[in-house]
Amino acid sequence: MYIKSIQLNNFRNYDNETVYLTPGINVVVGNNAQGKTNLLESIYLASIGKSPRTAKERELIRWNSTFAKITIEYVKQVKSHKKIEIFLSTSNNKSIKINGYYLKKISQLLGEINTVYFSPDELNIVKSGPNERRKFLDIAICQFDKNYFYNLNQYFTILEQRNKLLRTRGNSQTIWDTLDIWNDQLATYGSHIIYTRLQFINLLSSIAAEVHNTLTEGTETFRLEYNGIVGTDIKAIKQQLLSDLLDAREKDIALGYTSVGPQRDDIKIIINDIDIRSFGSQGQQRTAALTLKLAELEVINNEVKDTPILLLDDVLSELDSSRKNKLLQAVSNYQTIITCTEYNEAIDANIITINEGKIVN
Ligand SMILES: Nc1ncnc2c1ncn2[C@@H]1O[C@H](COP(=O)(O)OP(=O)(O)O)[C@@H](O)[C@H]1O
Ligand SMILES: [Mg+2]
Repeated sequence: MYIKSIQLNNFRNYDNETVYLTPGINVVVGNNAQGKTNLLESIYLASIGKSPRTAKERELIRWNSTFAKITIEYVKQVKSHKKIEIFLSTSNNKSIKINGYYLKKISQLLGEINTVYFSPDELNIVKSGPNERRKFLDIAICQFDKNYFYNLNQYFTILEQRNKLLRTRGNSQTIWDTLDIWNDQLATYGSHIIYTRLQFINLLSSIAAEVHNTLTEGTETFRLEYNGIVGTDIKAIKQQLLSDLLDAREKDIALGYTSVGPQRDDIKIIINDIDIRSFGSQGQQRTAALTLKLAELEVINNEVKDTPILLLDDVLSELDSSRKNKLLQAVSNYQTIITCTEYNEAIDANIITINEGKIVN
């Protein structure tokens, strides 16, 4: 798939601008604070339904305006020409139209425009706590698996109720009896989540190994491991999760929250048999984050049978020229939108220059 045009009205520092893109490599050039990341943010919003930078949608509306609109025209493999319109307003929740029809739920947006987003913050996937890695997993899988999105929502709704119960300091017999009911439901949805994650990680790990081999010219091996319940059969995973929940009952009551389950799991990123979260150099961690994103691109491509769009925010300046070229070659089959302050690479690209929220060329 690829985006043909993006029209921004009152979005961030844009008044009314239309950006035309080509199916290959597009480079958005401009000084700092001109609106390059804002442009990628609008695409991400149309893809995931959220901003990668803020939970406050009001911040997306141009200062002193009461509404903002994003219109994206794009081409898909199956149903060729499509249009997404997103309306943001200071007084209402956002609403979204696809080809003129309002969406009833935000989940209907998922999978429309598939993107992989990479910014310097993405280093957190490798460096930060497990939360960032679970978020990476969940956003990636939700783009091609609506059941996963459903199971995740159900799971967290039940988890919240179970945690609420754990925080009540009531009759312990009543708490124990009610816990059993929540445990069974949690284990049902939780086992589906874990099973899907394991399958995704298997695929991702083998593709990432190849990508990493290319990026590092064969000097580093790469693999991923799931830190949680592992198994190849949903029933067995459910049984294990149930028994973990039972074992943790007293602990959970003391803690006031649920201490086991997929909301606590993690992925280990292993380079040359070493966990690089703790022992990797900064450069290794950066390359590992890039490897994960490029592998994600390929997994989504295989799953949805259409090319996702790659959004690269400010990453070129951090790479040496050999890795830069390898990266640009590796992404040449995907529509790619790269932001940078200057572009001097040999690889041909559609150049878009931005100055103070205006397209210059
Ligand atoms: N809601 C908004 N209304 C108007 N301007 C905004 C809004 N949000 C951010 N900006 C402006 O957008 C600019 C930052 O844009 P950004 O895309 O992050 O820059 P860069 O080109 O460095 O990636 C800043 O000048 C900031 O003041
Ligand atoms: Mg920026």
